[in-house]
Formats: sequence, structure tokens, C-alpha cells
Amino acid sequence: MSDELSLEQKASLLSGRDFWSTEPIEEAGVPSIVLTDGPHGIRRQTGDADHLGINESLPATCFPPAVAVGSSWDAEIAARVGAAVGREARAFGVGVVLGPGVNIKRSPLCGRNFEYYSEDPLLSGVLASAHVRALQAEGPGASVKHFAANNQETDRMRVSADVDERTLREIYLPAFERVVTEALPATVMSSYNRINGVYASQNRWLLTEVLREQWGFDGAVVSDWGGVYDRVAALAAGLDLQMPGNGGVDDAEVVRAVRDGELDEAVVDQSVRRMRVLAERVSPATGEFDAEAHHAEARELAAACAVLLKNDRATLPITERTRRIAVIGEFAAEPRYQGGGSSRINATRVDAALQEIQVLAGSRGQTVAYARGYAADGSGDPLELREQAVRAAAEADIAVVFAGVAEESEGVDREHLDLPADQVELIRAVAAAAPRTVVVLSNGGVVSLEGWHDDVDAILEGWLLGQAGGGALADLLFGVANPSGRLAETIPLRLEDTPAYLNFPGEQGHARYGEGVMVGYRYYETVGRAVRYPFGHGLSYTVFTTGDLKVTVTGDDTATAAVTVTNTGDRAGGHVVQVYVATTAGPVRRPARELRAFTKVFLQPGESRRVELALDRRAFAYYDVELGRWTVAAGEYAVQIGQDASTVVAEQTITLTGDVIVKALSLDTPVGDWFAHPVVGPELMRTLMAGLSEEQARQAEEQAEMLQMVASLPMRQFLGFVSIPEEALNRMIAMGA
Ligand code: BGC
Repeated sequence: MSDELSLEQKASLLSGRDFWSTEPIEEAGVPSIVLTDGPHGIRRQTGDADHLGINESLPATCFPPAVAVGSSWDAEIAARVGAAVGREARAFGVGVVLGPGVNIKRSPLCGRNFEYYSEDPLLSGVLASAHVRALQAEGPGASVKHFAANNQETDRMRVSADVDERTLREIYLPAFERVVTEALPATVMSSYNRINGVYASQNRWLLTEVLREQWGFDGAVVSDWGGVYDRVAALAAGLDLQMPGNGGVDDAEVVRAVRDGELDEAVVDQSVRRMRVLAERVSPATGEFDAEAHHAEARELAAACAVLLKNDRATLPITERTRRIAVIGEFAAEPRYQGGGSSRINATRVDAALQEIQVLAGSRGQTVAYARGYAADGSGDPLELREQAVRAAAEADIAVVFAGVAEESEGVDREHLDLPADQVELIRAVAAAAPRTVVVLSNGGVVSLEGWHDDVDAILEGWLLGQAGGGALADLLFGVANPSGRLAETIPLRLEDTPAYLNFPGEQGHARYGEGVMVGYRYYETVGRAVRYPFGHGLSYTVFTTGDLKVTVTGDDTATAAVTVTNTGDRAGGHVVQVYVATTAGPVRRPARELRAFTKVFLQPGESRRVELALDRRAFAYYDVELGRWTVAAGEYAVQIGQDASTVVAEQTITLTGDVIVKALSLDTPVGDWFAHPVVGPELMRTLMAGLSEEQARQAEEQAEMLQMVASLPMRQFLGFVSIPEEALNRMIAMGA
């Protein structure tokens, strides 16, 4: 297929023509492909280009970013975002949308957490997979990013994420794996960082062995923008497209490497083939999209994402009995609805919560007073601003304070989790003056609730909800919508409690992932550390009960868990069934529990539904680095229904046969493994006994515990104490190979 092209033409297909598009070769029928951010809207730039969100782009709908979608715990919501973004991409002639981002929230400080779904790989993977499938069903391709272990912004273009393989396989890779194997994304974007010393963009193990050979990926690998360091090494490792191009400098390098015999031309041909397949697959269209309909959809989607953290005295929803409402805080009038950087969308319009509250309150004859409360840019006198807010609060039946973080952006990690001090002061002062106080938060990364949590009656975590978030928040406050979000990340008590605290963002070019698989709730639950709100937490205006758990082993180390969920309250609402698995089986340290299945059910008041969730082999497996594969250890597994990650409401234990684990034996293998081997073990025992007198044999049998003492000795060392004929030893090694 690439035969008719010269080597120079082929090389030119493998790097961008400009910032956002690939090189066409018209005489060979290869069109240009437009690639554009992503993930929660389209940032189509037709003027000056940049990947930092500085220059303008065409107006597009800003849907809820991943931080919000993660909290929906609803694949349907993720799919609707994906489909709408796909429609807009098509309208703009975009072939590949750069997203979604499925990196794990390793630390709440990561400046890009607003673009990522969760601290949990299953939740991230299921949502991203739904997003990609729906987006691609509209025609354009997706680019799942940033592959891999891009969990911080500090030094992101050089830092080495030093991660052991089990942790990569169990925590940082599964979301990518699920998207690749289930949703078949057109492209995967390599990350800027190094992994165990090797740049992701030139990491053959990652881009070829894991991604293509083990997961079967057949699309194209695209570099992050400017993330190619050695073009020839990257191509050889499996990176097909370098973005953006650099005026042909690296193309010439590829040509030179082939001519000098450093790079096999077959490698170039293979990437050219992938680029041509991509061009055919994502052939763009242009047209229009319905901006009004998308805005309305964005509002509905946003309402499914906010998390009601606290609701004492049933303060929310605001009922018609409440006459006077004080809305306080600049973010009510000037909303924070997206983060900064490459994902920044030029929204078609933006709803402010204040106006939306006025509309809803007005229709019910309620009055709304507004006080700015603080100035996010630090202008104005905080004291005065606060005094006005306190006066408004004192005259109201309820005060609703909009607080949050003014600026979060790609490229910068946060240094702490605190709200600005003037906002904390404001919340406390308002809470002291108002009969009831609600706090509505707008933030892309987790913020600390300490210092004011106990002063207020209700907290609605709104994250960043996209351009229609203001309307969604109003709907939730007034009960037009019922909150159904659940935390996709833990809210800790202190930054110092977070698992990566000592190793984030690393030092001297290395971020050591010393916490291993103990990320997020896996850590807090395993070490028993108290948190403010656990992963999976979220309240509703109605009440759900979960009962009749029945776990059935379905054979071959798989199971199903069935439960009955009942809405016992008086409103329709959504409930998330969370299934965790807890075990100590196997030779590796397991987290106290891990999310292994979930689904969201919507029930009318009084309605009950039997829900069945499948638990596949992977739900019980760990990644065995010695065997180099996913392994189910024989033993007991508690299947738990969690209200959240730290509250188990039902549990049933099952026993699994597990995989037969036979490790190859050598002189370096511990004696314990020799004895445990099903064939070699008895043979070894016979051989040892054969060399003993009757009396010695009797004593040896009596002292069976001796075996435990020598179990950890490598056979080579053990041979210093016992005598085993060489011929017998070799025979046993052959039997155990
Ligand atoms: C970001 C990517 C983005 C690309 C293009 C990079 O800085 O890391 O997520 O897709 O720019 O804007």
C-alpha cells in the first residue's frame, strides 16, 4: 500500500503538517486529518494555534469535565458526553478528538485532576470506554491519553515515574486496557513523562509489547504535543505520529536513519499503513450542531454529576416554605466551570447559578438577595465584602455560599488543598449569621473541608460542571433534580494523610510511586486512616436500601453478585450499587478492598429492583510479576456491597479454586517452593529421606517444623547442609521446569 510513496513522502505522513493537522498526499489519495482537543468539548482553532489554551477557538459546548463525569458513576452520562462531543467534532471537520484522559488521580494535588475521572481504575475505565464508544459512533476518532503514568504536572516533560510492574498493571494501565480492548479507540496518545527511566514516546515495552501485542491495539499511537525526544527511537518503539510537526526536521532524520541502516524501512511502512487506515477511518465531515440542544443536554448531564456530601436537618432541597434566600459568593455570578490549559473551551454560552436560582425562586414567590462575599482575584476589601454577605445572610431563611478554587490549570500542580482563607472566613461568618447554610463548591481537584465543615448544614460538591453547571446547581438546590453523584476520589482530612504525600511530585527527576497499589481508598482502607468523606460517598434526597445479597460462583473463578435495591423515600432518584472484593489470598499484599463492579439504578418512590453484576476473573486476580500474568490465588474472597468504600452494607464470602501456580525451579529457588511443587516436592522428600538412617528419618519426621526454618534458603545454599546426588537434582530441575 505504501509502495508508490517515496521514503520522504512516507516520513512526512508520520508528523504533523502544522499544529493541528497531518500532511496530506493528494496524488496518493491520503487526506489530511485534523486533531483537536478534547476531552469535554471541541477546541477548534482556526487562527493562532497553541496547546496551552491561550488563543481563541471557535465557540463549542463545554460539557462537564471528567472530574464531574467521574462522580456520575454512570456510563450512560459518559456516553452522552462522548456522543455530543463527537457530533460537534464532526460539525467542525475534526477527525480525532484528543481525549478522554484516563490517568489515575494519584495525588489530589495533580493540577490536571479535573481532566481525569477517578482514583480508581475500574471506574475510570468503564466511563472512558463508554465515552470513546459513543464518540466514535458519531464518526470521529478518539485519542485516549496520556499513556501512561502521567500523574503530575510538575516536570511533566522529563520526570520519570518510577513504578513497579504490578502497580502499573493493577492501577495505572487498566483504564487504558479497558478502553483499548472494549472501545477500540482510533488512537492512543503517549505521555510526556518517562516511565522507569524511558520516555513513554520511545518506550517499546509500553507502546508495542503491552499496547499492541498484549492488548491487540491496531490503531495509531500519537505523541503528546511536543512529546517526542528522539524521533527515530520513538518510531522504532511504536509511536506512529509525531505532533505537531517540526518543519520536516525529524522527517529528514527518519529518512537518514533508514538510509544509514539504523532503522528498518518496514517500521516506517507499518506506521504509514496505520496512518492511512486512520485517515480512512475518521474521514471528516462539516456541518452544524444544535447549540441550544447541546446546552440543554449539558445542564441535564451536569446535574447527574454533583455530589451531595452533607445534608443535615434535610436542609436541601430548598422547599417553598423557605421565603428568603441569600446567595453569596462571586462564583454564583461568575461561575468556575472548567480548568485551564489545552482543554479550555470557548463556551457557546455560560449559565450563572445566581440567575438560574432567581428564575426558580421567582417562579415560587421566593426572594433572592445576592452578596459577592469575596473577590477571587484578590481585589476589594475582604472585610467589607464579608460584612455585606453577613448582613444578607442574617436577613435570610437560608444562605447558599458559592465557594471554590479560582484557578486550576494544566501545567501546574497545586501546593495545598485549602480554600482561599477569605472564603473560609466568609463561610464561617455566614454560617454564624444565617439560620441555615449551604455551601456549593466549584473546584477541579479535591479541597479540604476542614475548619468549616461542621459549621454548615449542607455541602454540595459541584466540581467543574461545564457551561450549563449554573442551571444544574439551581436544579439540584431546589430539588428539580435529585443528587445522584458519588465521590470518585477520597476527600482526606489532611494532605499529609494522602498516600503519595512523601513521594509527590518527586525529586531530582524521579517520582517514586512508593505507595504501590495502595492508591486512594485502597490505602486509607488498608491502613485504617480516617478520611472526611470516603470514595463512593454521596447522598440523595431520597433513601435507598440494599438487601438480599446473593453471590454465586459461576465457574472458572468468576461470580455474580445480585442485590435488591429499594427506594424507600418519597422522590425518584439514582443509586449506585458498588461491589467490592476483599481478600488476603495470594503471595502479594492486597488492598483491604477493591471496587470490582458497579451500576447506577434509577427508581421511583417505593420501587424495588433486583440488580445482578458480573465479576469476571480479573475481579479476583492480582498481577503476578514472577509469572508475568494475571493470577487468581486459591482462597477466600469476600464480595461486599459498599455504601461507599468504607461502609460495607452486605457481604458474602466465596471460595475460589484459583490458578495452579507452579513456579519453575532452579538452584536459586527457595527450598520452600521446591517442597511446595506438586511433583518435585514429594520426590525431594523421598530423596532426602533415602540418605538418612532409620533413626535420623524418624527424628526428621518428628521435626517437620524444621522445614519452615529452611524454607527461604535458596536450593544452592541448602545443598551446603544436605546431600542430594547431582543426577537426582538435575532430574528434579527438569521436572520442575
Ligand atoms: C496536552 C494534551 C493535549 C495537547 C494538545 C498537551 O499539552 O498534554 O492533553 O491534547 O497538548 O493541545
